[in-house]
Order: sequence, then C-alpha cells, then structure tokens
Amino acid sequence: MPNNEDEILIFEDSEKLSEFIYREKNKGKKIGFTPTMGALHDGHFSLIRRSLAENDVSICSIFVNPTQFNVPSDLVKYPRTIEKDIKGLRDEGCPVVFIPSSEDIYPNGSDYKVEVDLKGLDEMMEGKKRPGHFEGVVQVVKRLLEITSCDHLYMGQKDYQQFTIIKEMIKDLEMPVKLVVCPILRDEDGLAKSSRNTRLTESHRRKAPIIFRVLTQAKDWLSEGRAPVEISMKATEYLNIQDFKPEYFDLIDGHTLEKVRNTDHHALIVACTAVWAGTVRLIDNMILKGEL
Ligand code: PAF
Repeated sequence: MPNNEDEILIFEDSEKLSEFIYREKNKGKKIGFTPTMGALHDGHFSLIRRSLAENDVSICSIFVNPTQFNVPSDLVKYPRTIEKDIKGLRDEGCPVVFIPSSEDIYPNGSDYKVEVDLKGLDEMMEGKKRPGHFEGVVQVVKRLLEITSCDHLYMGQKDYQQFTIIKEMIKDLEMPVKLVVCPILRDEDGLAKSSRNTRLTESHRRKAPIIFRVLTQAKDWLSEGRAPVEISMKATEYLNIQDFKPEYFDLIDGHTLEKVRNTDHHALIVACTAVWAGTVRLIDNMILKGEL
C-alpha cells in the first residue's frame, strides 16, 4: 500500500492486481471496490468516499466497457478523461486504481453470455430501449468482481435498474460480496450528476432540472393518492417541453421492477425515467414510497 498520501497505485494488469489484493486480504484487510467507466464526477467520488470510510483498501476501476454499448457511436463519444480521473482519485485519497485493457478483461473474447437468472429484471425500462446493454454490464461486473475479490461493491442509486440486476446476479451466482448502494448526488438545481451532463448544450442544461422537479411532483401526487398510471401520464406530459423527449416515466416496484398498479401492494415504489435532452439521454429516479 502506498504510505505517502499523494501516492496512488495504478494497476493495468489484472493478475498483478489480484496478487496485490490476495496479499492484502491475507493480512485481514477489507477490500472495497467501485467500478467506473471514468469521466469521474462528484457522484463517483461519493462512492469512493463511502468505500474509503468502510474498508481498509479501496479500489476504483476505470474501464469503458465496449460490450454494454448497444449503439457503437456512443462508445466512440464516451468521454475519456483519464489524467483528470487519476488526479481526482489521488485527491480523494483513493489508494488503488485499476485501468485494464479489453484483452485483459475479455482474454477469450467478449462473445459470451454470463449464465445467470436475472428473473426478467433486464427486460423492462433500459433493457427494452438498450438491447444487450445489461448483458454487457453483467459480463464486466462479474469479471471485475472475480479479479478484485472485494468484500464490498459500491454502486449508485442513479442507475436503479443496473444495481438491482447486479444484486440479483450476486445472489444467483452466490458471489461472496456485499453490494452497497449510494444515494444519487445532484447539482444544486436538482440535476442528477452524470458524465453525460457535460454533453448538454447550455440551453438543455438550463432546462434539465425539470426532470428532478417532475420526480418530486410525482412523489407528491403519490402521497395525495393519485393512481400510478395517471402519475406516469401526467409526468410524461410535463417532461414533453421543447427539445426534450421523455422515453418513459414508470412507477415500479423497487425490488421486482414491475410496473405498479395498486400502490397498497408495494412497500417500495420508485419512479424511473429516461428523457432525451436534445441528443443526450438522461436517466434519473426517485424513491416515492419506502426505503431501499
Ligand atoms: O455504471 C457504470 O459506469 C458501468 O455500467 C459499470 C458499472 C462501471 C460497468 O461498466
């Protein structure tokens, strides 16, 4: 482990990282792991901070996973800010960063599917709109968990369906890791932090907090006893402003991700939405009833 605060260990080779972790675990150290695709912002750093507080050794990976991009141009457009990311991690005091190559993550090629029963969690919302996306996420997170053998995995609530699927994968494959879900971080005006926000035009950025306002409104509507279908319809209408195109606004059960019809039948209800702001697709969610 680096003993100088300014130091950060950078691993590019999975075998070397696994050996390092093996040694740390043999000393009884707890390992916390945060997977990312880089372009780090405060949302990511909040996961790292939580990991630093709860573990002896925290690792952050930066890997733009090609298998989760269903539109090839999105992979090309994905922001890559590696020097800035490493600086940010160093400033946060993250001691280890893993920056693997595709060959290292997929030594036998990426053309395989992880055998896991996701109970249909990957079929709705993002799964419908981005075919193959969650297969890619499951593939890479499973591989990264095997390399890091971490005790705690840190993911954000912002990608609600993603962390729910990973939780199911961990359960189904009986992986010895605990998933820690961290709250959504927002800018002052309510826009959820996301790497994609940097791609918004000035005018779209100004309008984007409407997503947070409509989610908050949906919460009020639910507590007033309005029906979920009515809330979804009204919210979609509100989000349909100039240059914005809501793709879905669903009230779902927070565990099964099934659409909610009767609110009394569900202890955890979440509003999940995807909205196009010009050419940028933003997703966000809010817990309307219950707790994670
Ligand atoms: O949320 C992300 O950034 C990615 O989907 C993840 C979990 C790092 C897998 O590539």
